[in-house]
Amino acid sequence: MTRILIIDDEPKLGRVVAEMLESVGHEIAHATSGRAGIDQLSAGGFEIVLTDLRMPDIDGMTVLREVRRISPGTDVVIMTAHATAQNAVDAMKEGAVDYLIKPFAMDELRMRIGRISERRALSTRVDSLARRLDAREGFGRVIAESPKMRAVVEQARRVAATDETVLLLGDSGTGKSLLARAIHHASRRANGPLVEIHAAALPDSLVEGELFGREKGAYTGAFDAKAGHAEIANGGTLFLDEIGELPGTTQVKLLRLLQDRTFTRLGSTQARKTDVRIIAATNRDLEAAVKAGTFREDLYYRLAVFPIAVPPLRERPEDIRATALSILGRRGLGADRISVEALALLAAHSWPGNIRELENAITRALVLAGGEPIAVEHLPSTLAGRGGAAPTSTLDELMGPSFSLDALERDLIQHALVKAGGNKAAAARLLGITRRRLYSRLESMSQKQADSDDSS
Ligand SMILES: Nc1ncnc2c1ncn2[C@@H]1O[C@H](COP(=O)(O)OP(=O)(O)OP(=O)(O)O)[C@@H](O)[C@H]1O
Ligand SMILES: [Mg+2]
Repeated sequence: MTRILIIDDEPKLGRVVAEMLESVGHEIAHATSGRAGIDQLSAGGFEIVLTDLRMPDIDGMTVLREVRRISPGTDVVIMTAHATAQNAVDAMKEGAVDYLIKPFAMDELRMRIGRISERRALSTRVDSLARRLDAREGFGRVIAESPKMRAVVEQARRVAATDETVLLLGDSGTGKSLLARAIHHASRRANGPLVEIHAAALPDSLVEGELFGREKGAYTGAFDAKAGHAEIANGGTLFLDEIGELPGTTQVKLLRLLQDRTFTRLGSTQARKTDVRIIAATNRDLEAAVKAGTFREDLYYRLAVFPIAVPPLRERPEDIRATALSILGRRGLGADRISVEALALLAAHSWPGNIRELENAITRALVLAGGEPIAVEHLPSTLAGRGGAAPTSTLDELMGPSFSLDALERDLIQHALVKAGGNKAAAARLLGITRRRLYSRLESMSQKQADSDDSS
């Protein structure tokens, strides 16, 4: 069923068309002037508008433009008399999907409408496939609850639509590689290859051959010719990870690739062309490397056309909870599989290894918890509040103007008791003290309580 709006100042024809289309299962509304048609359109929900071209008040071309403006997802079909067929062709240029020359057979109309409906259904399917793909490989996978990360994703989405070179900057494990892939999958090159090269993972002597390819006999051991990543990525995206590690000679060649998309294979003088979008990433301070003379300044400026700085996890605590829950979600586990305290502890940690470290901590905690919800004791002891010393910043914060050691002790003991469900032996274990010591603390607490009640 398709919702169709018919706009024709000739009521009889409109009625005949409406009846026929209703008889094959479509839902029809009928307006007898351009103005009335546009008014109905604003109410929304029409998939197809079938409009006459020549009408006394507002003509079909104006209707077409209004539909495109008010409801860009609606298809417009023009109906017109012989004499004005050329106008119908013009209308197609303005975005109408089809036209019919009056008088037309009802069968013809039914067939044309049927074709448009089918195409619409198909494109809805393609859209939903694209969305599913986006969820799996694109920005759908990138968690961004924090304002900082949202801004990053927004920038990345914008640049994805262009062919500009992108430079992703940020600490290890912040999601640079994930974003590079998302940009590729959201770009018009998504159907082309995404080729990644890790400069740091290769010895200097091999980087150039990997990147630009080689001819047979280019160097000892080059028994055959081989295409490089720049060539393989033709039509797609070339992702240069760890760009800060690129050896000097390769930097020169990369500059040329960036300037005019040409390169030569090792052992050859023949310049080759390749059509690639370049994304580079590094956790190094490239500007400092330029100053130190280890990274070419001209290359830096060519790469830094659109720099995106990915903030470390400690600057976006909102993302910690969301990431933790999503890691559970990916394993089909719900939020009930982690205790509130454990989640709070995760959110308070500074995560020097960023998302990668967080992922590892949760994976390990799930193993330790063995089917039970993740509790504080399943988390690494390096986390604040789990054994070891709490970071000084936390202690400083703790010792604010109204700090009291007694109050802190009371809070800790009460918290342990609640967590242990009132079981004093278990609470003592949580506090790392003997049962006897807990009893004595409780006694002195109730004594103090009684004293302060007396004095008030
Ligand atoms: N915003 C995010 N949402 C969901 N997962 C993320 C996010 N950021 C990173 N990850 C995940 O964290 C892990 C590390 O991310 P990634 O490899 O992209 O980091 P990186 O910045 O490229 O690190 P390196 O500099 O070490 O290469 C990956 O498993 C990635 O899927
Ligand atoms: Mg990476």
